[in-house]
Amino acid sequence: MRAIVIDKPGGPEVLAWRQVPDPAVGPGDVLIEVTASAVNRADTLQRQGAYDPPPGASPYPGLECSGVVGAVGRDVEGFAPGDRVCALLSGGGYAERVAVPWQQVMRVPEGVELDEAAGLPEVACTVWSNVFMTARLRKGETLLVHGGASGIGTMAVQLAKAFGSRVVVTAGSPEKIARCLELGADEGIDYRREDFSERVRADVILDIMGGAYLAGNVKALETGGRLVVIGLQGGAKGELNLGALLAKRASVHATTLRARPVDEKGVIVRGVVQNVWPLVDAGAIRPVVHARVPMSDAAEAHRILEAGEHIGKILLVS
Ligand SMILES: NC(=O)c1ccc[n+]([C@@H]2O[C@H](COP(=O)([O-])OP(=O)(O)OC[C@H]3O[C@@H](n4cnc5c(N)ncnc54)[C@H](OP(=O)(O)O)[C@@H]3O)[C@@H](O)[C@H]2O)c1
Repeated sequence: MRAIVIDKPGGPEVLAWRQVPDPAVGPGDVLIEVTASAVNRADTLQRQGAYDPPPGASPYPGLECSGVVGAVGRDVEGFAPGDRVCALLSGGGYAERVAVPWQQVMRVPEGVELDEAAGLPEVACTVWSNVFMTARLRKGETLLVHGGASGIGTMAVQLAKAFGSRVVVTAGSPEKIARCLELGADEGIDYRREDFSERVRADVILDIMGGAYLAGNVKALETGGRLVVIGLQGGAKGELNLGALLAKRASVHATTLRARPVDEKGVIVRGVVQNVWPLVDAGAIRPVVHARVPMSDAAEAHRILEAGEHIGKILLVS
């Protein structure tokens, strides 16, 4: 098969579409003939040599894909050759074939094109596990989503609205804020013009900025609030005022999806299929696709992501 190979750390130009051995299919694995993958910020870090794949994961980038089941191992439950699926991967999505534990495989929601489905697993699993499983966002509560126009943000806005929450986003331009409002957000804050912590109080905050936003996020939490940090775009270190946290009886969580064991990913994936997919089937949540780029030109897709003008997901189509 062919896959995107990273020979040495560097810019997008190091991504090379090359012949490689087919993946080995273990007893619990589903082999997927890949129709599409999608770009995540973690892929750009892996390309730069700053985020190695966890032990046992494919060396090729790609944390999600969609396609058709080509073969199944003897212990696989619930999937058969010919099924249209999408999957959460720990790597290897930028390829013509990938083998993945069956627990991380999902049916394609109704009304979603097979290639669009490639952009759903990472955002759905990340938002479901952090906002709903960890932070336990409840109906009527306010969710603050930093980077509301990102791949993650566009799913967080739609899912939280579908569950009856009030949603406030931050974004870096009026156009991006307008798109978030179209997706259902109640309020948008242009972080280039305004300090969000002066304007909003939230029960749950989904944060991608880490250290740079830590003090502002703690200030913006309501009593009993929950801050979940999933990205460190503003650095890994910041000063945490425990006095402020204590007075609000608030909590700070930080999580990553990729390194979790298969069983934990399986619990999240089942939660997504039970709770998120019915909303996608019903059209209440739609995939937000910014661009489709040929997988062989993954470098161009990384350039688009790093330019930061995109809204939603960038797909890599085979
Ligand atoms: N922990 C996990 O398991 C996990 C899983 C998936 C993703 N993530 C993280 O989630 C984040 C989003 O991922 P993605 O793939 O959706 O990436 P993406 O589409 O490239 O989004 C990055 C976003 O960062 C926003 N941003 C930049 N500076 C900001 C600031 N000062 N304030 C608020 N927003 C700012 C950008 O918004 P503007 O363009 O509007 O400036 C952009 O929308 C990344 O940090 C990624 O690493 C974590």
